[in-house]
Amino acid sequence: MDEERPGAAEWVPPGADLARMREAAQRCRGCELWRDATQAVFGDGAPVAPIMLVGEQPGDKEDLAGEPFVGPAGRILDQALEAAGIDRQQVYLTNAVKHFRFGERGKRRIHRRPDVGHITACHPWLEAEFEAVQPMVVVCLGATAARAVLGRTVKIGQERGTPLDRGGRTAIVTIHPSAVLRLRDAAEREQATAGLAGDLRLASALAREANSA
Ligand code: URA
Ligand code: SF4
Repeated sequence: MDEERPGAAEWVPPGADLARMREAAQRCRGCELWRDATQAVFGDGAPVAPIMLVGEQPGDKEDLAGEPFVGPAGRILDQALEAAGIDRQQVYLTNAVKHFRFGERGKRRIHRRPDVGHITACHPWLEAEFEAVQPMVVVCLGATAARAVLGRTVKIGQERGTPLDRGGRTAIVTIHPSAVLRLRDAAEREQATAGLAGDLRLASALAREANSA
């Protein structure tokens, strides 16, 4: 085992519900990211949900608020969920990595992508969330989430919109809402948000299908 990154397993209380896990995650030392972050940002939403959405890691706003997807990327996600007819309260939202990774530029904290070591270290929390939430469909928002959920490298452009098997559950991959924010022009952003909404609509249809099977 890597001395620096023992992984989260020993901090995950066996058989705990989400509320206890959320508390326990605050004490996690599975990798070094806890050190500079404000707090762990655990998943949130319906405790048992047909759809689980997985992002990358908390951003600056989420790190301060302690809740996932409450910053600019969260606003894009909210728009896409609404366009897809999905109530945010009815799904479970989480991230592949629970602590914010950033670099400092003056007073600003600049997002840094978690590396595979962080994704692996944090994976026991994600697995414990799967166990608790029992989603029919898992939506991977971007490549980091896809890596965490599927355990392999995924090219979003190639596998987007195709239902994938993930140990008896269905996974679909789509873009990360931050990718929308990086687009320069409003028409492009609108189109990309609509694309994200389309993938969420597919997830919703697959969850309904699985539920009636
Ligand atoms: N980006 C993510 O991947 N997750 C969040 O919670 C916020 C921004
Ligand atoms: Fe633990 Fe994950 Fe935070 Fe690392 S990022 S300390 S593994 S909760």
